[in-house]
Amino acid sequence: MRWLKPVVFTASLLPVAWLGWQAAYGSLGINPVETLNRFLGDWALRFLLLALAVTPLRQWTHWAPLARLRRMVGLFAFFYVCLHLASYVGIDLFFDWAALWKDVVKRTYITLGMGCFLLLLPLALTSTDSMIRRLGGKVWRKLHRLVFPAAILGVAHFWMMVKADIREPLVYAVILAVLLGWRLRTFVRTPQRA
Ligand code: HEM
Repeated sequence: MRWLKPVVFTASLLPVAWLGWQAAYGSLGINPVETLNRFLGDWALRFLLLALAVTPLRQWTHWAPLARLRRMVGLFAFFYVCLHLASYVGIDLFFDWAALWKDVVKRTYITLGMGCFLLLLPLALTSTDSMIRRLGGKVWRKLHRLVFPAAILGVAHFWMMVKADIREPLVYAVILAVLLGWRLRTFVRTPQRA
């Protein structure tokens, strides 16, 4: 199964490649900054939910190689979150850190997005083999449960951002609820596997 990781790695880069292509050809629409930022936010959330789906999918399909994808998919979620944040801070706010702080304090959806980012940060920083060894499996697993509140904040960030049509965030919320429900079920049955 040596092809699996390179294939998923390449596929995970396709959204950013597509975005670069569209930007290069000026095809991002009438509000390119908004299109760019929203596109990156969408993919950040998709990868985050995909990372959460890896374990349930492995348990459901009994296909062990899937386990090897979890870290990579999680890091791609963080990669897209960072690009999303960078596009906002760099292109939208022109690195006006005071404006960012004002947004974080005053706009609930930005507060939630930042909360999600801050929860994902320690997970990305401790994703290396050496950090797993240094922390020990038990502490590492406990720390990485932060991914659950992070995903809730990510969906809430999107939900609070939309003004009227909640259909899209609702789809993400339902997917997240199913994934969290699966974990809860596993936890109740076999706490050590959850
Ligand atoms: C790090 C702090 C964050 C900031 C400052 C931020 C900021 C923003 C802004 C300004 C928008 C667009 C609002 C608009 O166009 O009216 C947005 C949309 C969005 N963000 Fe974030 N965000 C952050 C974190 C996140 C995270 C962690 C995720 C996902 C894991 C995320 C996912 C999304 C999604 C899905 C959208 C909506 C895209 C759409 O309209 O299709 N954001 N965010």
